[in-house]
Amino acid sequence: MTADPAPRPLPSGYRSRQLTPDDRHALLDLDTWAFPDPHSVDEFDALGLPLSWERTIGVEREDRTGADAALAAVHSSYPFSHFPVPGATLPTAGLTWVGVHPQHRRRGLLTAMIDQHLARCRERGEALSALFAAEAAIYGRFGYGKAADDLRVAVPRGAALRDVPGAAEHTVRVEHADRARHGELVARLHRSPGLPTATGINRPGWATRETDAQWDSYWSDPKSFRSAGRESLRIVVVERDGEPRGYATFRRTLDWQVTGPRGTVHAGEVVALDAAAARALWGVLLDLDLMSTTEPFLLPVDDPITALLVDPRSAAPRVADNVWVRVVDVPTALAGRRYQADVDVVLGITDARLPDNAGAWHLRAGAFEEASCERTDAAPDLELDVRELGAAYLGGGSLAALAGAGLVVERSLGALARTSAAFGWPLAPACGWVF
Ligand SMILES: CC(C)(COP(=O)(O)OP(=O)(O)OC[C@H]1O[C@@H](n2cnc3c(N)ncnc32)[C@H](O)[C@@H]1OP(=O)(O)O)[C@@H](O)C(=O)NCCC(=O)NCCS
Repeated sequence: MTADPAPRPLPSGYRSRQLTPDDRHALLDLDTWAFPDPHSVDEFDALGLPLSWERTIGVEREDRTGADAALAAVHSSYPFSHFPVPGATLPTAGLTWVGVHPQHRRRGLLTAMIDQHLARCRERGEALSALFAAEAAIYGRFGYGKAADDLRVAVPRGAALRDVPGAAEHTVRVEHADRARHGELVARLHRSPGLPTATGINRPGWATRETDAQWDSYWSDPKSFRSAGRESLRIVVVERDGEPRGYATFRRTLDWQVTGPRGTVHAGEVVALDAAAARALWGVLLDLDLMSTTEPFLLPVDDPITALLVDPRSAAPRVADNVWVRVVDVPTALAGRRYQADVDVVLGITDARLPDNAGAWHLRAGAFEEASCERTDAAPDLELDVRELGAAYLGGGSLAALAGAGLVVERSLGALARTSAAFGWPLAPACGWVF
């Protein structure tokens, strides 16, 4: 990897340093300034933090006196060593815990932190950075593209579902979620979404927790941090021939109305290894006593429930932006995924922050086979910014749709249709948890 220009420095008067567990209190204080929360820093301090400290950077005033002694800004990233991209996985930095103290905002601290982050990604050989955006208008300017949507539904209790052969052959366990009892099966099944692995059709963007700190945080369920009225974490596991084939986490809330109980099932992850297991899981989630709706948190837009529901409109479907992707190293990222149709195209890329990515790249691949991507002097067939490349990279955003908005330009007739088809993927991208 060649070197890009030095990242933009911090504004004058600030310096950055790697944080350590000794900085927990300062970090949490900054975080609760960035994300207002009724809990005190001490209450947060009692929780396990999912952070990788060696990837957690704080910004402070160089003089550090009085009110300025506190942290001014922070960012961190999760090391996703096997982030799913179409047909493969790539090392990816999951940008997280981004916050700037209100006193120090709009002075360029985030901008400098992003440049530092991208430079570190390149040093570590991470070809991608991914994130969830607190506000959707923040990250496009840094080359992140909205790479996936997720589906929000409110499914009425007892909604009719289409049959799937084999669904009734599952045994069902409905239990308190418990790390000792369920930790291994949750970690194992969460890693295996998509169609059966022999087909090679994975679920792009479906990052799984990889560090002990992340799992500690996942299983920690203190009562004071539960949203109003929600019970402790529960789990439904469906098994076939004694083997777990799927699970869903959930919490119920009860709401007594004059007309009768109108509770809500708040489902967390709904993970199934095949269609029969998915049908068995949804059958349980949609038929719990005293409940009137089931509201899963984040689902892929093509989750099996969308096809199983006899009346999908009754679930009031909405979509929201899910994971955003920044291509940090164009040739590694483009050669590192598979394509769903043959592709032979020269892409002309602009990238204001990482100029090594800019220029013409010759991408070649057969359908579902390994790809190559090399720099070329040839004239581009398509021109686009790295932000649009990120939006299309996981197979969710369509290059043709982006061209319809003027964000991808076709220079060679026919290149747009062929390349757009190749960049798609049979399963829609999505990440099932906010990181
Ligand atoms: C969002 C946040 C990190 C921005 O930090 P900051 O140091 O003020 O950002 P910068 O000064 O580097 O701003 C860079 C550019 O982004 C823009 N920008 C910053 N925050 C924005 C927002 N929330 N929406 C739209 N644009 C934003 C700035 O206006 C600036 O634009 P310009 O280059 O055209 O002048 C900070 O406001 C914050 O901590 N917010 C609350 C927590 C949060 O949302 N964190 C992000 C988690 S994903």
